[in-house]
Amino acid sequence: MNRKYRKTVIAGNWKMNMLPSQVKGFAEELKNISPKAKWCETVICAPYVDLPAAVKAFKDLRISVGAENLNENPKGAFTGEVSSAMLCDLGVKYVILGHSERRQYYGETDAGVNRKVLVALEAGLTPIVCVGESLEQREMGITLEHIALQVKSALYGVPAEKVRRVVIAYEPIWAIGTGKTATAQQAGEVCSAIRNVIRELYGARVARSVTIQYGGSMNEKNAAELLAQPDIDGGLIGGASLVPEKFAAIIAAANQE
Ligand code: 13P
Repeated sequence: MNRKYRKTVIAGNWKMNMLPSQVKGFAEELKNISPKAKWCETVICAPYVDLPAAVKAFKDLRISVGAENLNENPKGAFTGEVSSAMLCDLGVKYVILGHSERRQYYGETDAGVNRKVLVALEAGLTPIVCVGESLEQREMGITLEHIALQVKSALYGVPAEKVRRVVIAYEPIWAIGTGKTATAQQAGEVCSAIRNVIRELYGARVARSVTIQYGGSMNEKNAAELLAQPDIDGGLIGGASLVPEKFAAIIAAANQE
């Protein structure tokens, strides 16, 4: 973390878990045990149907709410889709884009992710752009090249003043939901490489202001060590964000002075 230059952001990604009727109870439990977030911004990203309940329930806790996807078109005949304007209208502030599960199961491409990033920024949402290598790519030694390509594609056409509002989440695919975390050193190395890519594109001042998260089996036990890396400015947390005690402990780790 480097709190002097950028925000620390702890974000939960509920994925396709948690019913709308369970949101209020979760927020109440979290409220009872959660430390006041002094140093970090806390976010819960939830399925579309949970969002109205989440915006309402997390307001008192000063937790921002995010979506897990959006459609890149402003409006129109796109049956089943949800636009950035709809999310903003609900009071949603963040949106996860290009998660590896969307790339893998729903054919999202780098170009598509880029279109969504542009639309989200235009609407005033903060995109959390996910990048990450597969185990095969790591073993082939092409992790950094792959990630540089994902970052450059996602940011194509994004002006410098808007890049400061983008959060990048480094999520190695092999660490997601597997219980296998990247070591703090592995994660720190890739996050620092991501910052170098941003520096190449936008210069040092912009690069040092961008929040870069780590995601992939982050939990209450490993959070402090990961967050101690200078280029890891937060976490994107799946499984552990569904359990109030675990999520609260991760927020506490990010709040440490
Ligand atoms: P887990 O924390 O369950 O590994 O999920 C990580 C993730 O995909 C967050 O977006």
